[in-house]
Amino acid sequence: MKRTKKTIVSVALATSLALSISSTYTAAAPATQASASQAYNAVDKKVLNKINVDNIYNDIEYLAKTPRVAGTAAEHKAAWYIQKKLKSFGYKANVEPFTFVGYTEASKVELSADGTSYSPSAFTYSINGNVSAEVVDAGLGTKEELTNQDLTGKIALIQRGSISFGEKVLNAAEKGAKAVIIYNNADGELNGTLGGANDGYVPAVALPKAEGEQLLEKIKAGNLTATVNIEGAEVSERISYNVTATKSPTEKKRNTDDIIVIGAHHDSVEGAPGANDDASGTAMVIELARVLKSLPTDTELRFVTFGAEELGLIGSQEYVDGLSHDEKDRIVGMFNLDMVGSRDAGDLVLKTADGKANFVTKLAQASSLRLNGAATPYSEGGRSDHVPFAEAGIPAALFIHDPAEPWYHTPEDSIDKISKEKLQDVAEIVGTAVYDRARPDHTGPKTQKGKPFKAPELYYQQDLK
Ligand code: BES
Ligand code: ZN
Repeated sequence: MKRTKKTIVSVALATSLALSISSTYTAAAPATQASASQAYNAVDKKVLNKINVDNIYNDIEYLAKTPRVAGTAAEHKAAWYIQKKLKSFGYKANVEPFTFVGYTEASKVELSADGTSYSPSAFTYSINGNVSAEVVDAGLGTKEELTNQDLTGKIALIQRGSISFGEKVLNAAEKGAKAVIIYNNADGELNGTLGGANDGYVPAVALPKAEGEQLLEKIKAGNLTATVNIEGAEVSERISYNVTATKSPTEKKRNTDDIIVIGAHHDSVEGAPGANDDASGTAMVIELARVLKSLPTDTELRFVTFGAEELGLIGSQEYVDGLSHDEKDRIVGMFNLDMVGSRDAGDLVLKTADGKANFVTKLAQASSLRLNGAATPYSEGGRSDHVPFAEAGIPAALFIHDPAEPWYHTPEDSIDKISKEKLQDVAEIVGTAVYDRARPDHTGPKTQKGKPFKAPELYYQQDLK
């Protein structure tokens, strides 16, 4: 990227400007002001000169040839590739395995009753089974409601609402039910999950509201027999990986003992090549590892790509759980790069789990202000790997373009939708923000520890309740 303006304002001024900017998105200065206040400094230049956006683009192209679902051969191949790239820069990179309980969706889901075929879907984590039995009305399937009901050998028909799908299935199974049908309490599709594997489950299917009510009418009219059939579902222990590389401070005498983590997730959802989500962040972590390798630093830098983010932030949670108390204390910032290159998404924003500014947002607002004349705004947001760090009291922020592109989690999340300009912009902001703190003679904002904090329930694409 070409920069003609060479105005240098002090880092301190840029920083104080950044700090005075509030958390609303509208706080960012309009683009027209950008050139007037562009003021990256000589230190930034060391980073900017080294960033090569084609490296990022090419790695995205390689990684996004196929989906990289956690626990599959494609994810493993991606992990080895990332390790190989990090090693090629001179890092001692590690591929760190962890296990998780994975689920393969059912290939066949059927429900027939009284000669009629219905249109059920299986709940994620339901077990397989072929059950023919009498259908009985089990209300909302709460423990209280079922106290005096014997469901032995029956199929329980339960309405959605008040408690989770998983609890309904367990309650009915405890009362002897052989299968469970849960019908919606509102119009629209019911795309549900039982939340996790459990030995107590029986086969469970979801039905639209109208079909559930039809079954209820038939029960009221007399005995109703149905067949529930679920095939091809599989719960099994699987292996995913985090890939890590560490740069120790080069200035041993000035070692701050602090650590900065730059992370992204390398897995994708099923069916999506995940060029933007999140080969973009992964490739940017790789490029920043290359750029920062040759620069003098007083702070330890850790480059990490996480597995199984899409299944519930599993890899980043594993990583955080594996940190010693001392390490958690020493990590002053976690930069989470997730969806940082879509041509069709909105502007760059920062998301923190508690919605508050922290050391990472301060560094990034200061660098974006120096580089572009406008501080990247921040607001509250979870849904990615910064959350487990934030919960451990580590200042962390997600870098993402908002609103998300329409291709998010679809087969269209492919390399042709990736913008080199967007990649360049984010790599510059993150690279210079990190180096603003990791350079041996750093000034800038003071490190500031976060407080351990409990994020509200993880956001899942499927309904739990
Ligand atoms: N990159 C997304 C998160 C995201 C997407 C945030 C769009 C903001 C806008 C991430 O990979 C993801 O899909 N996360 C899951 C949640 C996770 C806990 C399974 C999600 O948002 O469904
Ligand atoms: Zn993602």
